[in-house]
Amino acid sequence: MKLSLVTLLSASALVSAAPFAEPEPLLDERQAAESINDAMIAKGRKYFGTCTDPNRFNTGSNGAIIKANFGQVTPENSMKWDQTETSRGSFKFDTADQTVKFATDNKKLIRGHTTVWHSQLPGWVSQIKDKATLTTVIQNHVTTLLTRYKGQIYAWDVVNEMFDESGGFRSSVFYNVLGQDFVKIAFEAARAADPDAKLYINDYNLDTASYAKTQGLIRNVKNWISQGVPIDGIGSQTHLTAGQGAGAVAAMAALCAAASECAMTEVDIQNAQAADWTNVVKACLNQTNCVGITVWGVRDSDSWRPSGNPLLFDSSYKAKTAYNTVLAALKS
Ligand code: G3I
Repeated sequence: MKLSLVTLLSASALVSAAPFAEPEPLLDERQAAESINDAMIAKGRKYFGTCTDPNRFNTGSNGAIIKANFGQVTPENSMKWDQTETSRGSFKFDTADQTVKFATDNKKLIRGHTTVWHSQLPGWVSQIKDKATLTTVIQNHVTTLLTRYKGQIYAWDVVNEMFDESGGFRSSVFYNVLGQDFVKIAFEAARAADPDAKLYINDYNLDTASYAKTQGLIRNVKNWISQGVPIDGIGSQTHLTAGQGAGAVAAMAALCAAASECAMTEVDIQNAQAADWTNVVKACLNQTNCVGITVWGVRDSDSWRPSGNPLLFDSSYKAKTAYNTVLAALKS
């Protein structure tokens, strides 16, 4: 992005006028004229974040971009069950620790992701058939992770992707063995381990208010909260394709009304139109309890679904038009 000489001179004048001001990151290092996190904070929200792990923040300009433009990170894979407890009671945190250190060294909020999920789950968990054993295994896994990072994690995705597209419960070892009680078990263990962390239920395809899955999640979360299950927030992953941004506005209104807070947790938009990114920002800012937006990666080429240019920076680490569209929407 080419800044006018006037802009650059006035910026340098500002810096020289404040002798102790932190030096601005070099433009080519930060790859964007302004921070979208700063713009989000200016709107009274908590963060604009991205996912990362050492394989990403140690590559190219990813680390510099995250430091300069984002205020929150989600470990993309390093806190998942298949990375942290490959066999029962045997925990490994070296990669997750690196991501937590990167975040805390750079004063970024952290969303822990994720303690109970049917995917990236070791076989030894999937094979459990006994209620008492699975209950103990869930409690120990959740307690170990949340205790390790106690006080460092803003929010945890305690349960991820538990609903099917009809709004019913996805078939998983957790539901098949324990029924919906696994939700209460996981959230109560999480609350006990880190009372200060916000505890979220997280899912995808919640981008249309009337969709059965959206309604099923809302109905069940309201019910669980009324029963005393300590659910603080709803995370809508928001993995979109072109034109779906408009629906997310009403969907977030419905989702955010069902819990004390909400967030858009894994945003990417394949073949996005400008209006899609504007609508994603609007969907969160319209809800006073939407605390933040997290895009699922920095560079298009690092996305879990790289086709369709779904993120805010291109493969050369340059801020795309989409980044400036988000910035403009935040500042409007
Ligand atoms: O760790 C192994 C490595 O040892 C091996 O050499 C390599 C090649 O086979 O694979 C590595 O594991 C990969 C893992 O990412 C870590 O890089 C898996 O194959 C790969 O499938 C896995 O993909 C992740 C995906 O979740 C798995 O479902 C993506 O990076 C990650 O962005 C994606 O994120 C999920 C969220 O957690 C939940 N919501 C949906 C979202 C997209 O699927």
